[in-house]
Amino acid sequence: PNGRAPLSRFEPNDNVDYTAFATKVPILRKILGRPLTYAEKVLLTHLDGEHGEKITRGSTQLKLKPRRIACQDATAQMAIIQFMSAGIDRTAVPTTVHCDHLIVGRDGSQTDLAGALKSHGEVYEFLSSACKRYNMGFWKPNAGIIHQIVLENYAYPGGMLIGTDSHTPNAGGMGMIAIGVGGADAVDVMSGLPLEITAPNVIGVKLTGQLSGWASPKDVINKVAGVLGVKGGTGSIIEYFGPGAASISATGMATITNMGAETGATTSVFPYSDRMASYLRATRRPELADALYVAKGELQADKGAEYDRIIEIDLSALEPHINGPFTPDLSTPLSRFGDAVHQNQWPAKLTAGLIGSCTNSSFEDLSRAASLARQALKAGLKPQMPLFLSPGSQQTAQTLKREGVVDVFDRLGSTVLSNACGPCCGAWDRTDVEKGTKNSILASYNRNFTGRLDGNPATHAFISSPEMVMAKVFSNDLAFNPTKDSIKLESGAYFRFQPPEGDSLPHGLYEETDHVYDAPSTDAETVGKCTTDHITTAGPWMRFRGHLENISNNTLIGAINADNNEANKVVNQVTGELSGVPDAARDYRRRGLPWVVVADHNYGEGSSREHAALQPRYLGGVAIIARSFARIHEANLKKQGMLALTFAEPEAYDKIRPSDRLSIVGLDSLAPKQPIRLEVMQKDGTRWATETKHTLTDEQIEFFKAGSALNLMASRIVV
Ligand code: F3S
Repeated sequence: PNGRAPLSRFEPNDNVDYTAFATKVPILRKILGRPLTYAEKVLLTHLDGEHGEKITRGSTQLKLKPRRIACQDATAQMAIIQFMSAGIDRTAVPTTVHCDHLIVGRDGSQTDLAGALKSHGEVYEFLSSACKRYNMGFWKPNAGIIHQIVLENYAYPGGMLIGTDSHTPNAGGMGMIAIGVGGADAVDVMSGLPLEITAPNVIGVKLTGQLSGWASPKDVINKVAGVLGVKGGTGSIIEYFGPGAASISATGMATITNMGAETGATTSVFPYSDRMASYLRATRRPELADALYVAKGELQADKGAEYDRIIEIDLSALEPHINGPFTPDLSTPLSRFGDAVHQNQWPAKLTAGLIGSCTNSSFEDLSRAASLARQALKAGLKPQMPLFLSPGSQQTAQTLKREGVVDVFDRLGSTVLSNACGPCCGAWDRTDVEKGTKNSILASYNRNFTGRLDGNPATHAFISSPEMVMAKVFSNDLAFNPTKDSIKLESGAYFRFQPPEGDSLPHGLYEETDHVYDAPSTDAETVGKCTTDHITTAGPWMRFRGHLENISNNTLIGAINADNNEANKVVNQVTGELSGVPDAARDYRRRGLPWVVVADHNYGEGSSREHAALQPRYLGGVAIIARSFARIHEANLKKQGMLALTFAEPEAYDKIRPSDRLSIVGLDSLAPKQPIRLEVMQKDGTRWATETKHTLTDEQIEFFKAGSALNLMASRIVV
């Protein structure tokens, strides 16, 4: 009744205060003088102190105080090392590390996990001891995928979280503003500094009707991705509203917000729905479900709230969609998919089905998929290709086991992988198809860029719901439409699927599996392994510094050179020889010659990986000049002291040749919102110039001058 509840059962003394939320929102509404969207309410109740000036979407810089940080193991390594370098003893905000990205999927959970513990034991040990030492919670390997663990344990309506992974918006399914950031931004917040972002625009998605039959939450976001494209959400929050939302479970809403990342959106969010309270109770968090009652009225968009754009979807008319290949926004409704397969000459044979990942591994997803498997098994059918299942968490996997769902996957002969990303992040040791062989695969994941899942650039990866993957593995014809086509049985009879069915929540509570979590040490000083001394001498830092040298060998090796249309083949402009990108870059660095990357649209799309910014910087690059940037990558470049410039006139991109010499002039008077002149000298001596733009703030200009945000932070620490 007092509107307060613990942030989570792992932080019993830190409270969520819904009374304070319900008090603040009317004040904000008055200050802004207009109705507020739900996203604005949550964002602005997390402002760091009073915001003096007028807030304008698309331009005002907001300083925000997120309540939580989550890091996955691949990005946590760099983030923690940077945090250690800052010389601060404890994270200022509850922080967790999740070991999910490094477990390779191949033979099944037990064997794969043992392999990961062997190959990455040192990394896990480093992360575990650093967590104990610096007040972070540690979710062990096989505990689950970061976003599922956040959803099950930490996400709550009206909250704000940042995560060092681009699918952090998954928690938006529980009404949370959850933003994917680079490690350096996370380190700022760990250190007690605010998160700075530009006040986003708000795209509204109005949902009417209700989901039923074959249509699933994945089809909602597959359709939205098709409407917006991979850049259409840039600079915006996607906010869902309308009566249709009530027909979507909390985990279904999370699927939708998770994959909003594919549109470039800052995040996606649903306002409060009673499905969220049911999920809180099922995941053993009844206090939060009770506490939010006092703020229910404000956990919605105001009547008359304005959206910068509105997309309408009638869920009753929504049909399944299959997206791909090679990009998640190429969206085809199922009824037209068969024709598209033939017209585009996509490889007609389906060779693998993959279900799960952070996007689609909920109790509902897997029980609906299992309902189709039961129909097929009963008819005597078997999968016609390898089928892999990546459960999202130990908690959900144990619950599914208890309720007989995992048994169905076992009866199918599928490979149940660890509770980890596995093939979704390319950690798939695929042996059945040779590299270079054209083939099609279908996954319930969120991304399908060239080579992402199995490292084979010839693999055509398609994305759909878990139900669609399950039904389609019983026919190896990619064009098979399970909602209307039949499969011939050995008896000569024909089998046709009935629409999937499944419960959104288990009968009873989710299983308790808290043993997969290690709390921070209450006596941090005794955890000696990761003191700051270790950073500059031996120990973990040395190993990671080594990593940067090694990992730099993959810098831009997949990028296509405009000169010859080939990957990793550039002319070294000094020697005239053809070489790989990292070799040419190292040679320029040796000669003291700074270099730049000239790139097309959405440079840095698809990852929060900081190395993508650190590596060019380490190899002597000074600027990336692109037609446009993906948000997280642009932020990472700034933090690493690289200039991220965009062409004022996008056509200038086409005029630049790899053999040109570029001069970025006037950097001594670099200032926010001021253009920067780029002078180009062609090989034949012709000169021309163009303007570039940047989004650096005063503080970020200081990062550039200091060489990186970390350098600046270090220079400000008084010892
Ligand atoms: Fe893992 Fe999800 Fe990313 S499964 S790789 S966190 S897309």
